[in-house]
Amino acid sequence: MPAGTDEGGSPREGGDPASSAPALTEESIEAHVAQALEAIARAGDLDGLKEVRLAHAGDRSPLALANRAIGGLPGPEKAAAGKLVGQARGRVNQALGRRQQELEAERDERILVEEAMDLTVAPGRRPLGRRHVLTVTAERMADAMVGMGWEIAEGPQVEAEWFNFDALNFDKDHPARQMQDTFFVEPAKAGLVLRTHTSPVQARSLLERGVPLYVAVPGKTFRTDELDATHTPVFHQLEGLAIDEGLTMAHLKGTLDRLAEAMFGAGIVSRLRPAYFPFTEPSAEMDFRCFVCRGEPTATPCRTCGGTGWIEWGGCGMVHHNVLRACGVDPERYQGFAFGMGVERTAMFRHGIADMRELIEGDVRFNAQFGMEI
Ligand code: PHE
Repeated sequence: MPAGTDEGGSPREGGDPASSAPALTEESIEAHVAQALEAIARAGDLDGLKEVRLAHAGDRSPLALANRAIGGLPGPEKAAAGKLVGQARGRVNQALGRRQQELEAERDERILVEEAMDLTVAPGRRPLGRRHVLTVTAERMADAMVGMGWEIAEGPQVEAEWFNFDALNFDKDHPARQMQDTFFVEPAKAGLVLRTHTSPVQARSLLERGVPLYVAVPGKTFRTDELDATHTPVFHQLEGLAIDEGLTMAHLKGTLDRLAEAMFGAGIVSRLRPAYFPFTEPSAEMDFRCFVCRGEPTATPCRTCGGTGWIEWGGCGMVHHNVLRACGVDPERYQGFAFGMGVERTAMFRHGIADMRELIEGDVRFNAQFGMEI
């Protein structure tokens, strides 16, 4: 665009208004309108229409210039010229508005089609795996012990009879050695069993690590039980063994109370009930107050604790001198305590799982509810 034509009324242009003023005849205005309408109709999208609008209705469009030139006309001609140009601009603006609406509607429709999502399509993502609730529970128990400064130890699941029984002061004719309780591994003379508890790791740890000793042993254990709501032939325990100078039953109780709190929350009420194990003396079972009935009388016996008001958690006691001796530890100088808590029971009571079989059946719908703990 040549300099000077864009600034209507500028001093340079003002010198000769007649020569640069647009023609204000009906034909020329009609021609501008026709051009504009044709360009509007041709505009294929909103960007194109924007350009058309600038060219035919913008400040420098022929009709805008014509409008500006009206001011320079002799007085009597102004009204007619104003009407002519005003109507022309009105027609162009209307056509622009209509085309704008059409093109917007077209765009909206296209977006709906192009960006449509099929909400019924099967997701491509594979479901996240979950850690089994027993794994998570055992780990949490072990973590609580580590938090108290204990070490973690492990032992084999196929265990020497000597570690599983003899080192733990079981008599040769103790009933636990009978076929009906213990899985023996063939050939019989190999002296191997599937460990019936995690306690053999007591002897292993004492022999391997010496004293003083604080170890926790999470692990799998086996007994010839039928699978039902409260028994399973494969189960898990968390063993604890502390051997040091001057340990008493009070340390045992304090340790188990802390472990119970870590698993079940503060304010857990526990009791030690006299029991018998060949490898501890005195021995006890640890129970805690049933968290469903809290020991209060109920109309029908509480299903969680069987109406006793207490839930059995595991066995414990002061380590028998014979065990210490079998592992080369002087019982006059060192004493200690041990315990073995059921991981299944812990998981069941932590999560309100009523039937032990759910823990082993491997139904993903069951498993998926757990294993998200952090
Ligand atoms: N090993 C015993 C059981 O399986 C539990 C226990 C562990 C008892 C340690 C006393 C000390 O029942």
